[in-house]
Amino acid sequence: MLGNFIYSNPTKLYFGDHARHHLEEALAHVGHKVLLTYGGGSIKRNGVYDDVMAALAATGKEVVELPGVMPNPTVEKLLEGAHLARTADVDFILAVGGGSTVDYAKAVSVAAWYDGDPWQRFWVNQEEPLAAERVIPLGAVLTMAGTGSEMNGGSVITDTASSMKIGKVFGERMMPRFAVLNPRYTFSVPKRQMVAGIFDIMSHIMEQYFSGDDDCTSDYLAEGLMRSVIASSRVAVNDPENYEARSNIMWSATWALNTLICQGKKEDWMVHMIGHAISAHTDATHGMTLAAVSPAYYRHVCRYGLKRFARFARVVWDIPAQGRTDEQLAHAGIDALAAWIKEIGAATSIASLGVTPAMIEDVASSVIIFDSGYHKLSHQEVVDILQASL
Ligand code: NZQ
Ligand code: ZN
Repeated sequence: MLGNFIYSNPTKLYFGDHARHHLEEALAHVGHKVLLTYGGGSIKRNGVYDDVMAALAATGKEVVELPGVMPNPTVEKLLEGAHLARTADVDFILAVGGGSTVDYAKAVSVAAWYDGDPWQRFWVNQEEPLAAERVIPLGAVLTMAGTGSEMNGGSVITDTASSMKIGKVFGERMMPRFAVLNPRYTFSVPKRQMVAGIFDIMSHIMEQYFSGDDDCTSDYLAEGLMRSVIASSRVAVNDPENYEARSNIMWSATWALNTLICQGKKEDWMVHMIGHAISAHTDATHGMTLAAVSPAYYRHVCRYGLKRFARFARVVWDIPAQGRTDEQLAHAGIDALAAWIKEIGAATSIASLGVTPAMIEDVASSVIIFDSGYHKLSHQEVVDILQASL
């Protein structure tokens, strides 16, 4: 392990199909007035809302509801929630839903007691709240596996006015105090969303894996997680109520992006930067944007990190090295990734997500370019990758 780091993660996890009984235990340790935030209504149709309300009642909480969090939550919605959290003076935020709802809860947490423009300060300027500033602690009941938001500080917000979607990774104060992970709560997720979540998990792992060239424990962990996600995805797409597969997917999602496998790594994240720009212009589903651009992006950059891409082919996809050069192996691994994207029904083109050739320049201009992967992209290279993904 190269590099120096401190490792700590404050989120307590309650995992399994008995997890709902733990919600009461978790709530016993938080404040009295709870802001309950959730999405467009799936939790009312699948019974999760009733479970959560029962636990809130059993622990004597006063509840203020904040429904209507949309996928790709917006600045307008953030301001509405921040106003409500402040005027109601809540002690705790309970997010019940997928990554959008959990991300949103973190955003409301930092924005509620801040008098300025939260979008500008926390997302555009990437600032952290000062230790003396008030933030509202939060917890999560997760209903969809994918983002890892249940055990990290990430909060991705979209400003529709500027067509920018930006992620801020907050520190420990904004990470959920607890997360209840019941795989059965994910059974009602529509298949397309489940597949988008599966690809999001795979992408998180690849974003961390495709950087650096030292021998690093994080990469061995990443390879195990990728193999688990691939194996479980093949079961889940044919049998969505297979508990074993869905529980593996849920647990892999959390460990894919909970600050474990990034240790000692520089990380890449350019697939996410391109994906976020696509969502900012089309409101497309996050995981689908990643699937649509990954093959073209990796075919473009693999020449700069051939050894790692060859290892990806051998270890993750079981492609024999014998008789192949590193370059041939690298491309065979990316071909296997592209075939899996098709097999599970994830997006294979950005055109299918609403991007037209005429939009490509604008989308490329919204891409934030990082310099931590194997190759720093120019604007023209982003355009080329988008064109190759059409
Ligand atoms: O709103 P409701 O009615 O609840 O429906 C949701 C939503 O329409 C539905 N859903 C969730 N659980 C369900 C369900 N439907 C039926 N049964 C259930 N059990 O699924 C739809 C999508 O939900 P959403 O929360 O948007 O999905 P996801 O978990 O993929 O979150 C995506 C957001 O997270 C951000 C993305 O950019 C995007 O904004 N990300 C957050 C990250 C982080 N915090 O670290 C990292 C990721 O890379 C990602 O950028
Ligand atoms: Zn993601």
